[in-house]
Amino acid sequence: MGTQSKSRNETSETDERMNVNSAISLEGVSKVFKGRQALNGVSLTVESGDIFGYLGPNGAGKTTSIRIILGLLNADSGTSSILGRPTSTDGIRQKLGFVLEADGLYENMTAYENLAFFAKIYRVGESGETIGRYLKMAGLSERSRDKVGTFSKGMRQRLALARAMVHNPDILILDEPTAGVDPSGQIEVRQIVLDMAHAQGKTIFLSSHNLDEVQRICNRIALIHRGEIKLQGELARLQTEMGGGKVEIETEEPLNEGVLSRLKSLPGLELVSQTEKVIVIALDGRTSTHDVIALLSQNNAGIEQVKKRQASLEEIYTTILKEAEQK
Ligand SMILES: Nc1ncnc2c1ncn2[C@@H]1O[C@H](COP(=O)(O)OP(=O)(O)OP(=O)(O)O)[C@@H](O)[C@H]1O
Ligand SMILES: [Mg+2]
Repeated sequence: MGTQSKSRNETSETDERMNVNSAISLEGVSKVFKGRQALNGVSLTVESGDIFGYLGPNGAGKTTSIRIILGLLNADSGTSSILGRPTSTDGIRQKLGFVLEADGLYENMTAYENLAFFAKIYRVGESGETIGRYLKMAGLSERSRDKVGTFSKGMRQRLALARAMVHNPDILILDEPTAGVDPSGQIEVRQIVLDMAHAQGKTIFLSSHNLDEVQRICNRIALIHRGEIKLQGELARLQTEMGGGKVEIETEEPLNEGVLSRLKSLPGLELVSQTEKVIVIALDGRTSTHDVIALLSQNNAGIEQVKKRQASLEEIYTTILKEAEQK
């Protein structure tokens, strides 16, 4: 399993990319809290434009990594950089916006005042027009004069996102942005995140326990377990790689017994499952997907589509964690 895990990790690719100015990079970062190792040699790379999902069980080290990336906590060893420069570089923090587990909003200030206050801290001016725009993005125009202490969790999360954006950073770092938010609130937060990434070209790094959410919006992921990165890479590629080399074939009509038995007699082909018009096969290399398609065509089987089976993020997550637990 060890070699397989390695091939799933993009270590060598990551090494090569270190020279390019990635948006966020951690290299060999370790951190010990009172004798407990929270991070052990964490390396990860987030490219500009990524929506990067950071996954892992409670206590795995996600928030600790985020605090190091943000320069709120020093690593014991290893390096952390933003846009190719150390986090401590002058002006770098201005490029970052973030929402941590505690949203950090001021209860006794209104939504408007919270944004104005942060705009002032970041010295970006506090024009009513700009703040109004961010309040609108958060869907809070109507509530701008209400105190944050009276807001629901979802409203607070949306306001926290707006606050993280008020100085127009290039990179947004979000620690569980939809935790405790109801399903429609989650959709709204996701929509804001997607808009920031796609329409505004921001790089997003988000930690989440919501695998469905990460599968929907992230293009790259890393999975951390007990302070060590167990998996990292492009999500679609990992899904294909971990789909077990299985191929899904949909036909216009159910395959008849004759075709099925010819198919099953191909060397190294295993019929994994069969529903009315969809069969899933596993091939060990002796027969190619091309051979299978040729045989079906010769038998006029009317192929609708052929695709490599993709593992769900949930399958990936549980498989990798199970492997990690067994070590
Ligand atoms: N300030 C601290 N002092 C002591 N231990 C800490 C501190 N911060 C984190 N830890 C420990 O470091 C480990 C990683 O914690 P971290 O908060 O990074 O996990 P996480 O992945 O964010 O978990 P969760 O999903 O629950 O938010 C845990 O064992 C935690 O107890
Ligand atoms: Mg955390």
